[in-house]
Amino acid sequence: MPPEPPPPAPLGLLAELTHRCPLRCPYCSNPLSLARASSELSADEWGRVFEEAAALGVLQLHLSGGEPAARRDLAAIVAHAARAGLYSNLITSGVTLDAARLESLVRAGLDHVQLSVQDAEADSADRIGGLAGAHARKLEFAALVTASGLPLTLNAVVHRQNLERLPALIDLALRLGAGRLEVAHVQYHGWALRNRDALLPSRAQLDAATATVAAARESLRGRLVIDYVTPDYHARRPKACMGGWGRAVLVVTPAGRALPCHAAEGLPGFDFPDVRAMPLRRIWTESAAFRRFRGTGWMPEPCRGCDRRERDWGGCRCQAHALTGDAAATDPACALSPHHALLDLAVREAMAAPDDAAFRYREMRAR
Ligand code: SF4
Ligand code: FES
Repeated sequence: MPPEPPPPAPLGLLAELTHRCPLRCPYCSNPLSLARASSELSADEWGRVFEEAAALGVLQLHLSGGEPAARRDLAAIVAHAARAGLYSNLITSGVTLDAARLESLVRAGLDHVQLSVQDAEADSADRIGGLAGAHARKLEFAALVTASGLPLTLNAVVHRQNLERLPALIDLALRLGAGRLEVAHVQYHGWALRNRDALLPSRAQLDAATATVAAARESLRGRLVIDYVTPDYHARRPKACMGGWGRAVLVVTPAGRALPCHAAEGLPGFDFPDVRAMPLRRIWTESAAFRRFRGTGWMPEPCRGCDRRERDWGGCRCQAHALTGDAAATDPACALSPHHALLDLAVREAMAAPDDAAFRYREMRAR
């Protein structure tokens, strides 16, 4: 089969500026082994990556981490993004940003802030994030953002230990003046997979949350946009992870590796290209890593003959690898996968754990 032609351009660039972070969330999407500060791309190197991304056709830049504000040169990085003409979204925990630093980011041309909260109640939020006092600081930072005139999105990762407060999280988003709320069920990679038994919601919890979101979308139409990312473990069909491998998003790690998704570095047998050594356009269009699972030519049965293959693109490669040991397998979230029973088993095991099971917190084990 001829190789799949590359799609015209990624919609977004996810720039992981650092793995350093003051929080220790047990569902962190960072890899288990974190990049050292000394290996991070410099602000000028990021600037070159942003210019190349803009030339490729990228419009949106997500500045992420770890905690991007752990970079003291964050304003210089934002200024590079503005010069490249990219719309910049800062994905932050907000706990280390004060008025002066926010002001410097606004002056550098920042366009949008996405602030994470761990729960609607401070005690629980601080326990989940593993940092005392964090929730209160986030509320102060949210007020600074809205006062600055920047648009604010609130991001709430939800799971078994905070889902009952989903209505309160929606109220919190309204109170803080957010225009958008992202309610994202935990996706079970890396640290989250280690904490699966403590985080996985029951079917009843999931159904109640889905109904809450549907009702709030209706009643808050025109006031608050709610995005909703569902979990795979109660699903019959998978999601199009990252919009399909190498189709919509390009991730660059703190040390400059280009990935089709944030978790891909954990897949064996890949040599992910280095943005210091290869231009972004070549990485996107020619690199073996981005072409490996692009399109449908790589698919095994049952995906190969399935009429959903260009809707979900076979689901998630990282989940397939984590659960079956084979990144090219059909995502076990699909009921047609021969491995689908693994998810039912995982749900049964998680339901046997107590509702307040202890977390294994993310820790900085640098490579
Ligand atoms: Fe998607 Fe493959 Fe399942 Fe079809 S068989 S729904 S393409 S994961
Ligand atoms: Fe890597 Fe889904 S997280 S493909």
